[in-house]
Amino acid sequence: MRSAVIAGTGSSLPERILTNRDLEKIVDTSDDWILTRTGIRERRVAGPGERLSLYATKAAEQALAMAGIPSSRLDMIICATVTPDMPVPATACFIQNNLGAPKCAAFDMQAGCSGFIYALTVAKQFIITGRYGAILVIGAELLSKYIDWKDRTTCVIFSDGAGAVLMTAGDPPRGVLATSIHTDGAMADYIMIPGGGTAYPTTETTVREGLHTIKMRGNETFKIAIRAIEEVSREVIQAAGLRPEDIDLFVPHQANLRIIDGVAQRLGLDPSRIFVNIDRIGNTSAASIPIALDEAVRAGLVKKESILLFAAFGAGLTWGASVVRW
Ligand code: UT7
Repeated sequence: MRSAVIAGTGSSLPERILTNRDLEKIVDTSDDWILTRTGIRERRVAGPGERLSLYATKAAEQALAMAGIPSSRLDMIICATVTPDMPVPATACFIQNNLGAPKCAAFDMQAGCSGFIYALTVAKQFIITGRYGAILVIGAELLSKYIDWKDRTTCVIFSDGAGAVLMTAGDPPRGVLATSIHTDGAMADYIMIPGGGTAYPTTETTVREGLHTIKMRGNETFKIAIRAIEEVSREVIQAAGLRPEDIDLFVPHQANLRIIDGVAQRLGLDPSRIFVNIDRIGNTSAASIPIALDEAVRAGLVKKESILLFAAFGAGLTWGASVVRW
């Protein structure tokens, strides 16, 4: 059977940097608290008129260029996001039009911070069955547009950016070796943007009550995240016929440095085999793994046949992991 390989990566970040010191002037927090509790020094913030598809398109163009594949050959575009351009249509439709990829399937994937793993899992299925040959998997977020800048538990963490991978058919042993996705909707209220849907349609009251910004039960989420990421990572490592010590580079969702360190410690991964950019980028939800992967690839940290582990956890609650041989 043919495999699904990652043939190109790309990423795009807003220019504006918001430092911990900047946040000290907005909410009751400190550089020291943010750094020691999250590992974040600075995050990115998109401009007032900017929309998600702008950054997603730039990331996608880079992934296509690295793969050497023209947009006209795309069969499918999946955009994983919780912060679309608008409720209807899917942001993937705007990206398709920007790229010039006529008639290919395009849709959004909403699986919180695990969205990239979910989208990669769907793309893999279409490729290994032979149905499609070139699929863009994008993770993109402009979380700053949904932040309550008076809520110090969320405004210090979340950030903006986009990452993309171009997936094509390849030959084993290269490609996605194993991937797994999970959800527990009993904890749906742990991370929410409650307003703007059919439960709480937008009214003056929902705006006044702040229902259109991110609400997070951070500490409870934190405790579940480490265990869930460890479990799903072990699941895919085993499914790939490997052991944790075979992982050359762990590219985790950059949610919180303490979560990354906790998972790495439990899996017995040496810090030199973990890619971390949360200090510079913050938590970009579904965009964080593809941004980190693109940085790692361009820094030369990913070699031919390197074994990579991706793992994420987020709103839903959702979690998932993938093992890829480069
Ligand atoms: O992206 C995927 C899904 N999201 C996550 O995985 C996020 C997971 N959660 C986290 O990253 C962490 O829980 C946070 C960074 C959100 C919070 O860190 P924490 O260590 O869990 O803090 P906490 O919520 O237990 O709060 C501890 C204290 C509280 O004060 P008291 O009650 O002990 O006096 C908070 O009010 O820290 C306070 N606090 C802050 N202090 C200064 C909360 N946020 C801040 C802040 N600056 N920004």
